[in-house]
Amino acid sequence: MNILAELKNRFHEVLMSFSGNTEVQHLLDMIKPAQDARFGDYQANFAMPLGKQMGKAPRDVAAEILENLQLDDICSQAEIAGPGFINLTICQDWISSQVNEAAVDPRVGVSTVEGAQTYILDYSSPNVAKPMHVGHIRSTVIGDSLARTLRFLGHQVIADNHLGDWGTQFGMIIYGFKNFVDQAAYEQHEVQELSRLYRLVNRLIDYWKSKNRLMSQQDEIDRRAGEVERLEQVEPTGDKKEDKKQAKALSRAKDQLGQARKTLASLMDTVAAVEEDEQLNSLAQQHPDIARSALLETAQLHEGDETNRKLWEEFLPKCREDIQRVYSRLHIEFDVEYGESFYHEMLPGVVDGLQQLGLASESEGAQCIFLDEFDTPMIIQKSDGAYLYATTDLATIEYRMKQWNADEILYVVDHRQSEHFQKLFAVANAWNAPDVKMHHISFGTVLDETGRPYKTRSGDAVGLEGLLDEAVRKALEVVSANDDNKPGGPELDDPTRQHIADVIGHGAIKYADLSHNRTSDYVFSYDKMMALEGNTATYMQYSYARVQSIFRKGDVDISALRANDQDIVLGHKAERALAMMILRYSEALENVVDDYRPNQLTNYLFDLAKRFSSFFEQCPVLKAEDELVKQSRLRLCDLTGRVIAHGLSLLGIRVVDQM
Ligand code: ARG
Repeated sequence: MNILAELKNRFHEVLMSFSGNTEVQHLLDMIKPAQDARFGDYQANFAMPLGKQMGKAPRDVAAEILENLQLDDICSQAEIAGPGFINLTICQDWISSQVNEAAVDPRVGVSTVEGAQTYILDYSSPNVAKPMHVGHIRSTVIGDSLARTLRFLGHQVIADNHLGDWGTQFGMIIYGFKNFVDQAAYEQHEVQELSRLYRLVNRLIDYWKSKNRLMSQQDEIDRRAGEVERLEQVEPTGDKKEDKKQAKALSRAKDQLGQARKTLASLMDTVAAVEEDEQLNSLAQQHPDIARSALLETAQLHEGDETNRKLWEEFLPKCREDIQRVYSRLHIEFDVEYGESFYHEMLPGVVDGLQQLGLASESEGAQCIFLDEFDTPMIIQKSDGAYLYATTDLATIEYRMKQWNADEILYVVDHRQSEHFQKLFAVANAWNAPDVKMHHISFGTVLDETGRPYKTRSGDAVGLEGLLDEAVRKALEVVSANDDNKPGGPELDDPTRQHIADVIGHGAIKYADLSHNRTSDYVFSYDKMMALEGNTATYMQYSYARVQSIFRKGDVDISALRANDQDIVLGHKAERALAMMILRYSEALENVVDDYRPNQLTNYLFDLAKRFSSFFEQCPVLKAEDELVKQSRLRLCDLTGRVIAHGLSLLGIRVVDQM
């Protein structure tokens, strides 16, 4: 049962008649959970805009609406306050009956949606052969939790890991393999060696790019310095406006000069770092054309060159295995993992199709799609014949529509690709997917404590496995310290501690990510994410374990408890508050899918855990005044535990009975 939806339902018709049958969704959206319990459980604020629209006093409008509404069975009180707020208090009996239903419902009171849709979720999608890093966590866990939530609500979901298995990184690795491989290291650990080769080639390419830019960058500085000098010599005209303009131009020119100098400094750093390293420098000097050569290797791979195809076929399964290890640890599963290479054969057809429709046209030898809203076109084929990321994405949409006839496609990809997706959606809607809704579920960067993108000391983005290992190691410390300090002495043996550390460590990483508004950057901190207090997975898991420990202490037979049909009674206000929060689970899930924000669920779970804690402080359970109250409270505890565990499961996080 979704109380908010039910209330909106009831108000819907009356509001329609009041507003002359116009669209009332915006008015319904003004019915919300009350911020302050003193004002009831829900509050409706639509009387103000409606009053304005009707030319009546909002309080009168509110009163008229209430007169025309049947709410008695749900609300014990509907009160008009202030300028025209409607404060709604839900009936005690109604809450009890709903909570009793939820207690025997495997779906803990959440029904499936009407009008289920087919969603394709494109998430994780790393470029294989480059080591996975902390940035990939975000796409992976956000996508995974959205997939789980949409499925639970009854939608059909196809989880697609759109692996980058065909891009320029393969040309780089192939070039590296042909020229620099350490055969012994490769035999020992293939992916590690491939990833070393990738980094090496990347560095050498960077070196030459930087080196070749030094001169032109110096020219740019000279030009900009000249401009600054010229502007400095301009005499003031005495005209205020004109002089202000001059001053602005000068300050802009100085900024640009500063920027150009910074760029030069960073180019020089890149160059120096290689040249100071004798071995690296000698490699660099032997491969001055490495950038072009690596591109050529990619082109040859795409054209079907036998050697390169063989190498690719040898590398790919190993890279996939490597990534799979991370997914297994994190319990991430996909329905399909075609990857970019799967669409390769479709690319000429995409370009043809778009040309025939007149959407694509030639510009400077390349095939481009010009879009009104954008300064630059979408390029779908370069002048040398190569296809691009966008071309593959268009082919992918074509395939997905044919295969699954999707209603919506969600791309969980970091914010830097937002322009790519805006263009992609515009083209796809104009071409092969006119009706499908496409969303870029964008997210921010993971930062270190100084506010820079999270990196290891060597400057590489932190490898994902190392990060998980560290989280589990820290979790083991937390678990062990907690156990050692128990009043009656430690309760957990080593394998149990290890298992709990695993659940907590991985849960902490996922939850930290999911609990932040996805569009913001967030600071990665092991200590914060594993704190036993606050909005953390650890706190949620601890709340769950607390329920289980009550059962252990009281020797409660859980299946018997669940089977007994004694009602939950809500005598104490903390019981009522907790029950009310349990019933709001379905609202929380609706909020998650409304704008694809898992933090709506973490916020909810945090509120639920807080209400549980306050219930637990105020209402004795095992020492309740009588057996009826005790049974009722035990059932309320059980239901709370189930909702917490269920909510966490939708975030891809496990629980343990004991911590
Ligand atoms: N492989 C890409 C990257 O790592 C992300 C792919 C996202 N999905 C897509 N259909 N473009 O940047």
